Amino acid sequence: MRIGFLGVGRIGVSHAAVVAQHPAVEEVVVADADPARAREVAQRFGARAVETADEVFAAGVDGLVVATATDSHADLILRGAAGGLPVFCEKPVALDVPGTLRVRDAVASAGTPVQIGFQRRFDAGYIAARNAVNRGSLGELRRVHAVTADPHPPSAAFIPTSGGIYRDCLIHDFDAIRWVTGREIVEVTAVGTNRGAAFFGEAGDVDETVVLLTLDDGTLGTVHGSRYNGGGYDVRLEVAGTRGTAAVGLDDHAALWSAEPGVAFPADEPHPTFWERFAPAYAAEINAFLDVVRDGSPSPCGVDEALEALYVAEAATLSRVEGRRVDVAEVRK
Ligand SMILES: NC(=O)c1ccc[n+]([C@@H]2O[C@H](COP(=O)([O-])OP(=O)(O)OC[C@H]3O[C@@H](n4cnc5c(N)ncnc54)[C@H](O)[C@@H]3O)[C@@H](O)[C@H]2O)c1
Repeated sequence: MRIGFLGVGRIGVSHAAVVAQHPAVEEVVVADADPARAREVAQRFGARAVETADEVFAAGVDGLVVATATDSHADLILRGAAGGLPVFCEKPVALDVPGTLRVRDAVASAGTPVQIGFQRRFDAGYIAARNAVNRGSLGELRRVHAVTADPHPPSAAFIPTSGGIYRDCLIHDFDAIRWVTGREIVEVTAVGTNRGAAFFGEAGDVDETVVLLTLDDGTLGTVHGSRYNGGGYDVRLEVAGTRGTAAVGLDDHAALWSAEPGVAFPADEPHPTFWERFAPAYAAEINAFLDVVRDGSPSPCGVDEALEALYVAEAATLSRVEGRRVDVAEVRK
């Protein structure tokens, strides 16, 4: 297989590292808006650097990985699908519902598989929690609690084009809750504050947030998000039922510590970034995409799934801005 890459920044380079080592990949062709970056990455992985997206498409690749800035995802997916290429694209598909619907419809009529990068679906802990729910070993589901807290804020330049904390960041929690529980999120109440850098507020965004959720079976949920969690990269999910509770992310790298005297938990250092926390999941998701390219197997996480998580992010954004509870049906198109 020959795989094309558009965008080899923080996340693109980690995908390129896995793809370049795959035994069925003959050639990796990379382009980046920063050509020096493309050349440097190509040299590191024995790939071929080209200058433009056009050259990647002209290189006759069998599949395309898009890891560019968010606002270019939709157009690049559309180009790939129009050329009949299987596409892996980082989340989110687009920053709004109309843009995502446009991609969903075009991809459906092109008939090409598109996989969106919700890597938690490939993480061992999330998979085990989902299996526990499916087996019924937690009993009847009653509560969920998710956390995504970054140790450091992104750059000031990133925030205005990020879509805000719900579309950019907590969208992973919304997707994971849907996927692990098998339920839809139907109602959202979000509050948030800007207690960190002023650039969050200037972009209409917040850096601390708590979201209350109701799922379609009556299960209640909370999602906590922060851009300032100095204790480390904290990503967890608790799923509680009438017979037990499963916790994802509560291992020796957890970014919290027990205040109980005599309890030395966790034993190890917290994960500093998403990369250390999710490296095996990122590798598993991109290897799954290579299976899609090679075998023509269906996408394990298509645009429809990304759209459902985006609806929840839209509802949370509306709820915070208008200071009210929002029925997710209100933002569905
Ligand atoms: N799934 C995850 O956990 C996860 C983690 C981080 C980032 N992301 C997503 O991945 C995407 C990239 O994020 P990042 O942190 O790697 O950003 P980044 O800024 O480190 O990298 C983006 C790269 O794409 C290049 N680029 C931007 N627009 C381009 C275009 N139109 N054509 C070609 N190259 C272009 C930039 O020069 C840069 O090298 C974002 O959409 C982000 O939301 C997902």
